[in-house]
Amino acid sequence: MRSLYCGEVNESHIGQEVTLCGWVNKRRDLGAVIFLDLRDREGIVQVVYDPDLQEVLKKANTLRNEFCVQIKGKVRARPEGQVNKDMATGGIEVLGLELTILNKSAPLPLDPNQKNSEEQRLKYRYLDLRRPEMTERMRFRAKVTSAVRESLETQGFLDIETPILTAATPEGARDYLVPSRTHKGQFFALPQSPQLFKQLLMMSGMERYYQIVKCFRDEDLRADRQPEFTQIDIETSFMSSDQVMQVTETMIRELFQKLLNVDLGEFPRMPYSEAMTRFGSDKPDLRNPLEIVDVADILKDVEFKVFSGPANDEKGRVAVICVPQGAAKFSRKGIDELTKFVGIYGAKGMPWLKVNDLDAGLEGLQSPILKFLTEESVNALLERTNAKTGDIIFFGSDSYNIVTEALGALRLKIGEDLELLQGEWKPLWVVDFPMFEEVDGGMHAIHHPFTAPTNLTAEELEANPVGALSDAYDMVLNGCELGGGSVRIHNQDMQAAVFRILGISDEEAQEKFGFLLEALQYGAPPHAGLAFGLDRLVMLMTGASSIRDVMAFPKTTTAACPLTNAPGHANPAQLAELGIARLEKELEQETDADTPAA
Ligand code: AMO
Repeated sequence: MRSLYCGEVNESHIGQEVTLCGWVNKRRDLGAVIFLDLRDREGIVQVVYDPDLQEVLKKANTLRNEFCVQIKGKVRARPEGQVNKDMATGGIEVLGLELTILNKSAPLPLDPNQKNSEEQRLKYRYLDLRRPEMTERMRFRAKVTSAVRESLETQGFLDIETPILTAATPEGARDYLVPSRTHKGQFFALPQSPQLFKQLLMMSGMERYYQIVKCFRDEDLRADRQPEFTQIDIETSFMSSDQVMQVTETMIRELFQKLLNVDLGEFPRMPYSEAMTRFGSDKPDLRNPLEIVDVADILKDVEFKVFSGPANDEKGRVAVICVPQGAAKFSRKGIDELTKFVGIYGAKGMPWLKVNDLDAGLEGLQSPILKFLTEESVNALLERTNAKTGDIIFFGSDSYNIVTEALGALRLKIGEDLELLQGEWKPLWVVDFPMFEEVDGGMHAIHHPFTAPTNLTAEELEANPVGALSDAYDMVLNGCELGGGSVRIHNQDMQAAVFRILGISDEEAQEKFGFLLEALQYGAPPHAGLAFGLDRLVMLMTGASSIRDVMAFPKTTTAACPLTNAPGHANPAQLAELGIARLEKELEQETDADTPAA
């Protein structure tokens, strides 16, 4: 129906007749002349209807925004003075000769000035996606997936699909369950990731697997989390963690080079313990120059118990963040707000110290806790933090976890509030994660239970699980965890030992992962892999502030779809067929909620 896209018409077409299809982006009626901005996926072009062609001008007069039309016209240069340098097609216009209205449009239910709630945008997502900004993001996403496929396929990776209706996978979130009709009372789980299938594919000898695949996790949602998201999922045989990191780092570097013309350079590697100590996060944003500095050794002998208590407790931490030239930027009120902010992370207060004049000794300092400190400790603090006149120092003193989390969050907040971020792209690998963390007296796998420890036998691991490091790696970009992976356990004894450490009984291990344990007996190769969050990658590359903005049909933050009204009720016949009965109490509540108040 068209000879070319609106956004493609340019000076080389001057004098030619073109047929275009698209939507009326804007119509300007100047009485004798009508201007249309005609829009399609590739851009906008100006169409002019002038009085020489009365009939078509009359028809153009009936057009309204978002009518879908086909036009035939002749391309001509815009008259001097009407050239629009901000528009790709701003040097030309199309003189309208024929006009077919393909479909009328009712006035759109969305505000053209973008003052729409997200709920509204999602309800009319198909219209929201007409906005050039959104179209561009979808196009960019398609370019990313295409470049990923190209990069992996040239390196010998095979794209293999894995089941969506499957058994629960232990990635740590709640599962989405699907009732089985043929096995009443039983459920499939939607995969939180294809983890076990990709490992099984290595046992099949597939060597290099990848898949751009939907994953499902019923967890609390945020800007970078959706219940249904896409992974670039990768698994390899006979590769070390170093090699997997190299292959995937190369892929990401090539992607940035190709699509953004950005050279990310070599990614630095940082042990998990260093990331937590210096940045209070396992996904540090290295654009932020602020660092957490430990000062327990300096404050362990002061009389002030708030400091000396945690400083002398092996589970405690006393640390500071020095904000260069921050003294004048934080009033009492501002400091009170920050104190409330760190309170979210359990910090019971936040002592501070302003360096008004470094050369004036104690006189030049201002702090409600100055009187509790010795001159010697204050001097040591100033030296350790390299504080200068005009700086402010914030203190954290509590358990290790509270201080690390609170100062980690404070660092991010101040970095953003004071616009301290430097550089555009700061990637890194975080490595040497602990295998386990202690939660409520039990052990929990930091990555997942199929991750191999670094250089340990099963016996050594069981003897000291707390100190064990895993052969896992996370790729972090600008404070966002882009992807994570590990070398896997390929030996049955080790896998059984890890299940035991996690408190999974042999019986439960057999029931849930018996197939994996069995598969490990038949010559399973050493294997390792990683998965990237595709949505997060595209979000960062396009500068979007949420992954919802780079997904065509995302869910709301309460995991619903306002467009289709999913999730919805199942009718009683469907439920009966599935052998599912609803709880009476729940039905009553629903009836109450559905009944309008009298
Ligand atoms: P992990 O759970 O770390 O590892 O997930 C890998 C990457 O997927 C992305 N991601 C998400 N993106 C959007 N919404 C979510 N709810 C969400 N959850 C995770 C993140 C994350 O880094 N099977 C392992 C990988 C492996 O070991 O190979 C796994 O799924 O970018």
